[in-house]
Amino acid sequence: MAEEAVLGYLKNNDEIRDSGDFADERGIDHNEIVNVIKSLHGFRYVDAQDIKRETWVLTDEGNTYATLGSPEIQLILAIPPEGISRDELQKKLGPSVFKIGCSQAAKNKWVEMGKQLITKKGIGADDIKALKARKLIVPQTWKGYSVKKGPNYAPKRKKVVTDLTRDNLQSGEWKELEFKEYNYSAKGQPLEGGNLHPLLKVQSQIKQIFLCMGFEEMPTNNYVESSFWNFDSLFQPQQHPARDSHDTFFLETPSTTKELPEDYVQRVKQIHEFGGYESRGYAYDWKREEANKNLLRTHTTAVSSRMLYQLAQKPFSPKKYFSIDRVFRNEAVDRTHLAEFHHIEGLVCNRGLGLRDLIGVLYDFFSRLGMTKLKFKPAYNPYTEPSMEIFSYHEGFKKWVEVGNSGMFRPEMLRPMGLPEDVQVIAWGLSLERPTMIMYGIDNIRDLFGHKVDLGLIKKNSICQLGIE
Ligand code: PHE
Repeated sequence: MAEEAVLGYLKNNDEIRDSGDFADERGIDHNEIVNVIKSLHGFRYVDAQDIKRETWVLTDEGNTYATLGSPEIQLILAIPPEGISRDELQKKLGPSVFKIGCSQAAKNKWVEMGKQLITKKGIGADDIKALKARKLIVPQTWKGYSVKKGPNYAPKRKKVVTDLTRDNLQSGEWKELEFKEYNYSAKGQPLEGGNLHPLLKVQSQIKQIFLCMGFEEMPTNNYVESSFWNFDSLFQPQQHPARDSHDTFFLETPSTTKELPEDYVQRVKQIHEFGGYESRGYAYDWKREEANKNLLRTHTTAVSSRMLYQLAQKPFSPKKYFSIDRVFRNEAVDRTHLAEFHHIEGLVCNRGLGLRDLIGVLYDFFSRLGMTKLKFKPAYNPYTEPSMEIFSYHEGFKKWVEVGNSGMFRPEMLRPMGLPEDVQVIAWGLSLERPTMIMYGIDNIRDLFGHKVDLGLIKKNSICQLGIE
């Protein structure tokens, strides 16, 4: 109806001067007219010019006064010709109307405020300024259009078709049809498909880095490990605090391991109790039952240890190994800690390696992740000596951030395995979560991993990351 009114009117008239008046005259809602004009303008049936008008509308308070009368009017009407006492007037009007009414009426000099008696004087007119100052009215911009014929004007809108059908073709109707133009800037439906989690993307990126550097992947497909491989083989004493159930998840069933290489176990027991290979050992009573306990591995160094042991069972050949997989720790969960996360580990096993080789390989590895400025700080691990924490300068955060841990595996770990005396192993480890959080600008680990992760993060994150800094 509104569309016919607009197009029909323009057939015989040059212009609709004001859409507001046009709507009023025809008893059509102005919003409806506006929508029609917008749509007709879009298809260039009409040309429309904006018109704006400033008007005033009543606020809520203004509305109340419009029905009840303003407080000052209520006050004036309540004063009898002979005047009235303050108390009585307040009683009549209530305290709020009395207060506002008195102050406004006095300002307008409508009343004479004696100490006791209030009497009327002449009444002037309110103006917009005063109403505005009292917040009884607020300005409002009214928007409408003036409308003329557009280049595509027709008294009736043609129906445009969106699809050419078989029927159109057969009947020959297609010759008369008008087709809707393609809207090339319309957005398509979002594509639904598989998305890789940021951890998976960074994992495959790091895997590529290791492969490019000539490293082989270690098999990490066992979350359950014995204390022996997770701790004892790494020369971690049995009374070490990390071996407490406060830090490590132990298994209830099966609670112990059945298979350990017996002769190697004896050599590990020996090195813990009495030392050897120029080490004094820890001088304590090493217990097999402690080593047998099953746990969820606390680091992938357990896997490195198994691999090095296997390597030692054959004639020696140098190796470069890496792994990226899940580890578990009995941690209080907070914004930087989870009870399960992922370890990245790399190691090089060869004759005559030294600390300089470790530093060199760390620069090589981390610079491929975009971390070119590194610093090392002495640290302690039961299985490495020397040990170094690795820090990288983060250009965005403008500070050094810890990115990993490293060291040279101790002879107390390597020699009982049977590796030749001149073979050294340099190794380093880091969490997968740390570089991923830095790359994706996530500061709470729970936003990255676990049940609170927003699936939007996985769907929306960028396809590739260019460097870490
Ligand atoms: N296993 C260490 C950790 O838990 C990392 C590490 C690996 C340190 C290899 C030195 C050598 O963080």
